[in-house]
Amino acid sequence: MTMKLPAILFWILICANACAGADDKIPLPQARFATGDNSAWKDPDLDDRAWNQINTHDYYENQGYPGYDGYSWYRIHVLIPSSFKTTSHWPQRLRVFLSAIDDADETFFNGVRIGKTGRMPEDPGGYDSQYQAQRDYHLDLHGDVVRWDRDNVIAIRVYDGGGGGGFYKGTPYLKMAEKIEGVRLDTAQATHRFLGTKRLRSTLTVVNSYPVAQVGSIEYEVRDAASGRSLQRHKQPLNMAAMGTSQLQFTTPARPGIEVAYRYRDAATGQQLAVTQVLPYLLTPAQSLQPAIHGASVLGARPTSPLLYRIAATGRAPLRYAVAQLPAGLSLDPKQGVISGSIATRGTYKLELQVSNALGRATRELSIVVGDQIALTPPMGWNSWTAYGVGVSDALMRKAASDLIASGLAAHGWNYVNIDDGWESAQRSADGEISGNERFPDMRALGDYLHARGLKFGIYSSPGAFTCGRYLGTLGHERQDAWAYARWGVDYLKYDLCSYTDTMSKEQTLAEHQKPYQLMGEILRELPRDVNFSLCQYGEKDVWNWGESVGANSWRTTWDVEDNWESVVKIGFSQSPYAKAAGPGHWNDPDTLVLGRLGWGNALHPSRLTPDEQYSQVSLWSLLAAPLLIGNDLSSIDAFTLNLLTNDEVIAINQDRLGQAAQRVFEDQDWQVWVKPLEGGRKAVGVFNLGSQFRTFKLTPAMAGMDRAGKLRDAWRKKDLGAFGEGITVSAPAHGLALLVGR
Ligand code: GAL
Repeated sequence: MTMKLPAILFWILICANACAGADDKIPLPQARFATGDNSAWKDPDLDDRAWNQINTHDYYENQGYPGYDGYSWYRIHVLIPSSFKTTSHWPQRLRVFLSAIDDADETFFNGVRIGKTGRMPEDPGGYDSQYQAQRDYHLDLHGDVVRWDRDNVIAIRVYDGGGGGGFYKGTPYLKMAEKIEGVRLDTAQATHRFLGTKRLRSTLTVVNSYPVAQVGSIEYEVRDAASGRSLQRHKQPLNMAAMGTSQLQFTTPARPGIEVAYRYRDAATGQQLAVTQVLPYLLTPAQSLQPAIHGASVLGARPTSPLLYRIAATGRAPLRYAVAQLPAGLSLDPKQGVISGSIATRGTYKLELQVSNALGRATRELSIVVGDQIALTPPMGWNSWTAYGVGVSDALMRKAASDLIASGLAAHGWNYVNIDDGWESAQRSADGEISGNERFPDMRALGDYLHARGLKFGIYSSPGAFTCGRYLGTLGHERQDAWAYARWGVDYLKYDLCSYTDTMSKEQTLAEHQKPYQLMGEILRELPRDVNFSLCQYGEKDVWNWGESVGANSWRTTWDVEDNWESVVKIGFSQSPYAKAAGPGHWNDPDTLVLGRLGWGNALHPSRLTPDEQYSQVSLWSLLAAPLLIGNDLSSIDAFTLNLLTNDEVIAINQDRLGQAAQRVFEDQDWQVWVKPLEGGRKAVGVFNLGSQFRTFKLTPAMAGMDRAGKLRDAWRKKDLGAFGEGITVSAPAHGLALLVGR
């Protein structure tokens, strides 16, 4: 029998998908691809031989479809031998693992829909990008959807809202599910309750996500990584009903280096699942009940601009606020401790802040520098992106603002409340005005709500026609939009490059990159209020060299940070070369702090960073004099996260008025030392353990450029350590650190 060329190619394609790889997985590295949308394309018998071939591990933009946004279909042909069933002890389900897809998908197996992630623009509720979500679709093998020993077609309908599109994150594959894969040792959702400050009660929920009973046993061992000792070991049967759950509870010491190793064993097969979790511990000592004043001690404002300063203070309620030497034009709300008004004349004004309660009184100097510069210390606050993605709403913003105050965070200086992408209306009015969409009925009222509480109002847009979430950008309406922001009371603009690159030449010159930022920078300076100008163009064209010249108060130096250690390391520990560009009024921005409960608009999950990794991110970002923007769901903030964000000695390193960013002064295989000069000749030193073991490190005065006689203080523990001497030995768990201040 002779085969025609297209038929040969067809079988080569099947083989490319079905014949390679490990025997328990069938990798799916190839697909047929077409742009456009047609429901008939899910049909397994469709003749797609004329479609182009494409790989499934890289954006289609990189494979001959540059700049394409909108609908497209992938059709993956795969021969599944019936022997594949024998690769599982439980041949009842087929896993169709597609990795992540940019942005939304609907997937069909031989014409039968098996999953959908995100929403297409026509769907009820409108477009919802889910580009980060892993697609792990399951097919029940009790039906006859799979054509064993024959060609099968997985048809994936994709909608890309902008930027990269389609498959991009690892090669998809097929796998026979094992029953034990239904068991999840869900350490991310484990809850921890501190019993005092030294002990921790943890509850782990084990979840059976399969409709079949699970019979096995669980063992957990609590270890102390500092000593290498096992502290507790426990084993018990663990049986779960179909779709059932089971809980484990235990109490451990709460200190650095305590971790718990879980191991579940399936009784019938002996298959095992193992997970280790590092347990949280508190470093920031309990706040005194005596009054204390925190936050920035210097504030920049332009003449006549509205000024808003919420005095950050703690102590037993009720607190009373007063201010001595309040300049003309300013007034104080003595109940909330909010200074507002404006100052007409340039100059430096020194005020004395006073906070008192039944236990005493605290005072502190605040300098207001009225001139050309704002953002004299890095902005601190909250941004909606990493919690709510484009699903943000007026109600969520107001809730975040009130939680910022109720949780106590505002009392430590966290005072910006910034909407990220997702607030914009679908269309402009007839006269070109932009407004909030149905989730933001009244932008001005939202601004007033925040200002009434002494909080500042941030907003987001793009110089392009569209934002990254495919909302309206400012292109051609820059001045009109900036004046709308001013009417709404906006204090901060994050200006995200996104689709503006569509207007550039192929070469994308430096001048083309600078142009939209130069323009918006000039417009913002015309406004009758101070707007912190935050550039978001991911460090393109070495923005740290020119951000200040276009009027930026900060510029992102990198792509988006994610809540994993690789991302934090890649971004945070690469900032040293830009240190010199940071200073009062203009800061390097390595993106937000990815701690607490996050979700990017999907179900919230606790940060995937370990507690030590979170201590490291907060410490490093403080040393870098980076804007401190959290983005977690504040309504569910836990004791650990709150403790992490309310250490005034750590925050003071970030808010130091000298405004210098730390540089790396030492690096070996495991350790890095970063030093930030502080006001008054002091220095802050971060000693980071990037290795995977609990270790000690000897820090010498020479390494940090400090004095042997100088006294050191542990900033997290707020504890004096004595003189530096020959050197000091610090210990830190894997990915943890010590943060010292001295001279
Ligand atoms: C990205 C930006 C993110 C977020 C998002 C909104 O480009 O880096 O921080 O703002 O757009 O769509």
